Amino acid sequence: MYKARIVGTGSYLPERVLNNSDLEKMVDTNDEWIVSRTGIRERRIAADNQATSDLALEASKEALASAGIKPEEIELLVVATITPDMLFPSTACILQAKLGAKKAVCFDLNAACTGFIYALSCVKQYLEMGTYKTALVVAAETLSKVTDWQDRNTCVLFGDGAGAAVLRREQTERGVMGVYLNSNGNYAELLNMPAGGSKIPATENTVRERLHFLKMKGNEVFKIAVQSMVKSANEAVRVNNLTWDDVKFIIPHQANTRIINAVAKRVGVPIEKVFFNIHKYGNMSAATTAVGLDEVVKKKGVKKGDILELVAFGAGFTSGACIIRW
Ligand code: UT7
Repeated sequence: MYKARIVGTGSYLPERVLNNSDLEKMVDTNDEWIVSRTGIRERRIAADNQATSDLALEASKEALASAGIKPEEIELLVVATITPDMLFPSTACILQAKLGAKKAVCFDLNAACTGFIYALSCVKQYLEMGTYKTALVVAAETLSKVTDWQDRNTCVLFGDGAGAAVLRREQTERGVMGVYLNSNGNYAELLNMPAGGSKIPATENTVRERLHFLKMKGNEVFKIAVQSMVKSANEAVRVNNLTWDDVKFIIPHQANTRIINAVAKRVGVPIEKVFFNIHKYGNMSAATTAVGLDEVVKKKGVKKGDILELVAFGAGFTSGACIIRW
């Protein structure tokens, strides 16, 4: 049986750290509010000259080195992002050139915070079908570039980063197992970036009205986030004929510690199995689960055959979970 096995992971976080006391000087907020309402203590911010592809490049190099694979061997390169370098060409093509992945077929995938899981699910199909043998999946975001630094409702939440995984077609029982995905376009207005696309092209007015920044009705998103992540987390376990006892680590999207705790409680997973890095990085959208996977693999002593679950929720709305047999 052929599977898409993850043979290497990597991540990259920009050097600049923005902590809660820095934010206290920028907007009417305080460390106590941010920590108690979100769990975030600090986040990383890309340098002015760092685009999403630059973060993606560093994460990719690390993933390729850990897999022992050269860029020329990559046949498929997918970048999950909502903060592409530019609307076109795709960040995947830009990354291809920087990486020297000459042979790769490249495209971007936009599923917001669920992007890494959607991308794994997509690449899994190509590898299992035998269309390609080696793939690179990168989730990279520079959310700081679309954050309204005057809006305390959103600017405390987000950060920049990138995570990457190299996958290979192998005859094995290990790899990306059954995936559960879900989308609901009825809630697009609760979380979006209004201008800069074909609906509201950039004008002086759109800039003045701050429409090129991410907007979120956080409170309304919160409830649906919990429900959707619970459903996705449980469905992925069910479609793989597993129980929660089989799962060694759950790597959830990190939008809010209270969301993660509520999801863990509702699915009945002991909190020791749940991975957290929100205190260090905030919400990095698609990059969150990719960086989480790399950190769990490298720091938590994941062993051959261990079962991991990634679960996420984001703009769209999109939601999904995937089981990985390590
Ligand atoms: O990544 C994918 C999707 N994203 C999510 O899943 C995020 C989901 N939402 C959330 O995590 C939470 O809703 C937030 C963290 C965004 C907000 O927390 P909340 O407990 O839902 O707060 P709230 O929006 O209901 O606001 C409560 C109060 C308000 O003041 P009043 O109206 O009660 O006087 C806000 O103005 O907190 C105020 N507030 C702040 N105060 C200090 C909002 N932001 C801040 C802030 N500092 N940064």
